[in-house]
Amino acid sequence: MPARTEVSSADRPRVICHMMTSIDGRIVTDGWPLAPEGRRQYEQIHASYAPDGWLCGRVTMEQHFAQGTRSKAEVAREHHGAARADFRAPGQHRSFAFAIDGKGKLAWATNDLDGDHVVAILSERVSDEYLASLRERGVSYLLAGGREIDLSLALTKIGAQFGVRTLMLEGGGSINGGMLRAGLIDEVSVLVGPVVDGRVGTAALFDVEGDGVQPWRLALEAVERRADDTLWLRYRVVPR
Ligand SMILES: NC(=O)c1ccc[n+]([C@@H]2O[C@H](COP(=O)([O-])OP(=O)(O)OC[C@H]3O[C@@H](n4cnc5c(N)ncnc54)[C@H](OP(=O)(O)O)[C@@H]3O)[C@@H](O)[C@H]2O)c1
Repeated sequence: MPARTEVSSADRPRVICHMMTSIDGRIVTDGWPLAPEGRRQYEQIHASYAPDGWLCGRVTMEQHFAQGTRSKAEVAREHHGAARADFRAPGQHRSFAFAIDGKGKLAWATNDLDGDHVVAILSERVSDEYLASLRERGVSYLLAGGREIDLSLALTKIGAQFGVRTLMLEGGGSINGGMLRAGLIDEVSVLVGPVVDGRVGTAALFDVEGDGVQPWRLALEAVERRADDTLWLRYRVVPR
C-alpha cells in the first residue's frame, strides 16, 4: 500500500502515472500471455491509491472507452470567437474520467464509465455544436488552452472545479510523455508484466514529442512482487 501524500502543489492535484508495461517498456497489452490474476493487479493497485479520478489521452479513450470519433468534417468545423465557459453536468459525481481531447474528436454516448463521470478536456478550437452535444449527453467539459491543450491549466481546473486531489495518469505513452515534459508528474507506478513484447514502433511508457528531450531522474520508493510474477515499481519523480 503506497504512502498517502497530499497534493504536491496547492494549485493542482497530485499526479501518479500508473501503467502496465512489458520488461521492454512497451504498453500495448493485447495478446500478452498473462493470467487474469496478473492483469487484475493493475486495477487493484489503482484502487489502493484511492484516487478521485483518472486521465487518459485521446487515442486510449478512443480505443477503450469512447463510442468512436466524430467525422473529419465535424472536427474541422472550428470555433474562432470568444472564450466559452466550462460545463459541469448536474448530479453528484464522486469519481472522474478525464479525456485529453484538444480537437474534440471523441464521440460520447454516455457520461459514465463504470461509475466515473466523463469530463472532456478541450481546447478553444472546438465548435459550439460539439459543446452543445456534450451538454445534451451530460458530459462535463473544461476548456484549457487556445489551439492546443495547456496541460498545467487543465490540471489546475481539474483540481479547482472537480475537487480532485489525487489523479491517476493512465496513458498512453504520448500523453504520459507530454505530462512528463511539462513537469506535471509526481510519481510513477509501473506494473511490469513477465513479458517481452518486442513490437518495434508500438507505444512505450513515455513517448516524449519534440527535440531536446532530457532524461528524468527518479527515486525508487518501493518494489513489490505481485501475483503472476508481476512486479510493482514505485518511483518519485525528482524535480529538476
Ligand atoms: N499498458 C497500459 O497500462 C496502458 C494504459 C493506457 C493506454 N495503453 C495503450 O496505449 C496506446 C495509446 O497510446 P498513444 O501514446 O498512442 O496515445 P494516447 O497517449 O492515449 O493519446 C495520444 C493523443 O492524446 C492527445 N495528446 C497527447 N499529448 C497531448 C498533449 N500534450 N496535449 C494535448 N493533447 C495531447 C493527442 O490527441 P489528438 O491526436 O486528437 O490531438 C494525441 O494524439 C493504446 O494502445 C493503449 O492500449 C496502455
